[in-house]
Order: sequence, then C-alpha cells, then structure tokens
Amino acid sequence: MDRNARVEPGPPVDQNALKRAAARAALEEVVDGAIVGVGSGSTVELFIEELHGGAARPAGAVSSSERSSQRLRAAGIEVYDLNRVLAEGRRLPVYIDGADEIDGALHMIKGGGAALTREKIVAAACERFVCIVDASKCVARLGRFPLPVEVIPMARELVAARLRALGGRPLLRDGVVTDNGNHILDVVGLDIDDPAALESEIDHWPGVVTVGLFARKGADVVIIASAQGIERRAASGARA
Ligand code: 5RP
Repeated sequence: MDRNARVEPGPPVDQNALKRAAARAALEEVVDGAIVGVGSGSTVELFIEELHGGAARPAGAVSSSERSSQRLRAAGIEVYDLNRVLAEGRRLPVYIDGADEIDGALHMIKGGGAALTREKIVAAACERFVCIVDASKCVARLGRFPLPVEVIPMARELVAARLRALGGRPLLRDGVVTDNGNHILDVVGLDIDDPAALESEIDHWPGVVTVGLFARKGADVVIIASAQGIERRAASGARA
C-alpha cells in the first residue's frame, strides 16, 4: 500500500440526527393507553417531539424534571404526579431516558442535565428502562464522563472530602441548583471497576442525595443510533 495515500474521512456524523433516530426508534416501546416514564436531556426532548403527533398514544407521562414536564405539556401530553399514579395502582410499563455513558452490561452514568435523582426515582417506578443514545455514549468502561453526585448543599465539603479519599477530583457544577434545591459535584479520576459497588457506597454517605451511577438497576434495553443504523441491545435476561 502507498504509505502516502490519503485516507478520505467519512461523511460527518450529525449527532443530533442520531439522537433523533434513537428517539424515534423508542416510540415502539410506548404502550398505548398506559403512562410512560420520561427522562431528561436533549435526546429525551427529541423523543417528546417524536411523541407529539406520532402514532403512539400513551395516556400521559410521569416526568423526571421540570424541564421535561414543560416540554411534555407543550406537546399536549398530560403530566401525572408519580405519587398519585402509584397510589392508584396504575402500571408504568416503560421508562425512556438518555445517558451520558453506557457500558456493555448496560450500566450508565447519568446526570449531565442534573436530573439524576428524579430520573432514578421514575426509573425505579417503571417496569422497563429503555435507554436511547447515539453511539458516542457507548463505552467499554464507565468513567470518562465526570460522575455527577447530587448533594445537600451543607454537606458539599464533607462529600467532596470522601470523594477525594477514593481518588476522585470533585468539582462543584457552578451556578446549578437541581429541581430538588441541591448542588452537583462532578467527579473525575475515580476508578469505576465495579459500578454497582461504587453506587452503593457513595449513595450511603450522609449528605449524598443520589450518585449518577445507574448500575444496581441499569437499563433493560439500549437503543443505539450510529451511522450504520439502529442497534438494540438487551441486558441479560431482559426482552430485546
Ligand atoms: C440528564 C441525563 C441525560 O440523560 C444525559 O445527560 C444525556 O443527555 P443528552 O441526551 O442531552 O445527551 O442524565 O440528567
């Protein structure tokens, strides 16, 4: 081979178009007449757009952030209170959300949009977690994306010191107050060898509201959009 031959770059990847493709593919997960759990972030906002006027007919949604609730209402989709839905014994068959990173076991880092706590609550209330991502979110090992930790403001330094003791470098997300009135520490440098064990450890510290590891309950299915098309991967034991 001519060592000076130029390798032509492929066509540029439009990440937004990939996010929309993943969002559109998730429409078939929506159960007509049931309430759908809706996450947060730009991919989810595209999912809400696709839901609006699409063929899927959910009864409404429970939402994981004020922003998603606004978008849902603007799209004419009723937003239900989670407590009321559960008290009435209604089913929540599916939760649709994005991720900042997802690994081969469908463990995730979430919280780039600071909605991690409500995302974990709504995900826990739903029967099936369908994660929608463009291929750039897929990693062999979690940890390149800074790990968000939502903390009670008065516990910020206490939690930061414990994160440093684990080898992490926490940074306060400037100017961000979560929907729950709390702060976010973004942590780099942690060794995430065992995501579920780290999630359990950090979640138990006083002052931690939620760590952005979703490993004890990861996704059941991930819908990945790439230049090659749509790929679905299921967690072991989950329906594809
Ligand atoms: C918000 C989240 C989002 O799912 C995550 O940040 C991915 O966002 P996007 O779809 O904008 O890439 O966890 O807290």
